Amino acid sequence: MRQLTKDTLTGAVLARLKDVKDPRFKQIMTSLIQHLHAFADDVKLTEEEWFEGIKFLTAVGKKCDDKRQEFILLSDVLGLSMRVVEINHPMPEGATESTVLGPFFVHGAPEFPFGADMTRGATVQGEPTWVAGTVKSIDGKPIAGATIDVWQAKADGIYDIQEPRAEFELRGRVKSDAKGNYAFRTFKPKFYGVPTDGPVGDLLRQMERHPMRPAHMHAIVSAPGYRQVITHVFVEGDPYLESDAVFAVKDSLIAKYRQVDSAEEAKKLGMPTPFLRLDWDFRLAPEAGVKARATISAADATAAR
Ligand code: BEZ
Ligand code: FE
Repeated sequence: MRQLTKDTLTGAVLARLKDVKDPRFKQIMTSLIQHLHAFADDVKLTEEEWFEGIKFLTAVGKKCDDKRQEFILLSDVLGLSMRVVEINHPMPEGATESTVLGPFFVHGAPEFPFGADMTRGATVQGEPTWVAGTVKSIDGKPIAGATIDVWQAKADGIYDIQEPRAEFELRGRVKSDAKGNYAFRTFKPKFYGVPTDGPVGDLLRQMERHPMRPAHMHAIVSAPGYRQVITHVFVEGDPYLESDAVFAVKDSLIAKYRQVDSAEEAKKLGMPTPFLRLDWDFRLAPEAGVKARATISAADATAAR
């Protein structure tokens, strides 16, 4: 049929998918076309508005390079990244919940021994914090040899890789010991803003939204035989817990940072007095039924940046 109307156009576009061999790709394209057409109908999109949209997407693409991924940021602030996390990483009761990876993960961060000081060489000082806990399975059994890959923004709210100097700072990998315990020294995280110097920043301003993320430490925890979890630990009392710019907060991931005044305890751990202490256990679900794409690989990590 050559004479397409508003009522027959969508069907005609879908019919052109008839030779697609990959059924999953066909399913995704069918749904995407249907939703895009329905969206245009729903808002009665004008040509000027659609051109604005195309200009915006072009600017998002132009902002991307090997260090900056503006499309991931767009997906994050629209809540799409969290939606995809929810679809793909449902965790059984009692397991540490998943949340967004974000754009600042770096594969191959340095390995640190038990109790190491990740603040050594830091360019910005923060509040000294001892982080300790156990990696356990959901039935409470300690997991030895788990890898905990942690990263967080510096005390000025900027990640090491956002700066041209780009030395590893406040990031590293620690392993749980024979009893499943891990510990390291870091700084208490502070809230910070997602990058707003690009088109996604303009979009946030136009939506009258702030760009702030509540203070958090990121962690990817993995152990043979268990499902890897990509998660955050948020700071109780943070002013942005209710309005995270990327919708990643979950109640089960909010932790208390306790002040320790005991000089004796500080001395034992090689900490100043007073210091902060975060006691945090990670609970992993057994591997059964894990899909391959649930695991972060070096290739994914590079793509994520
Ligand atoms: C982050 O927490 O590192 C992050 C997540 C999403 C967008 C920007 C930053
Ligand atoms: Fe972050």
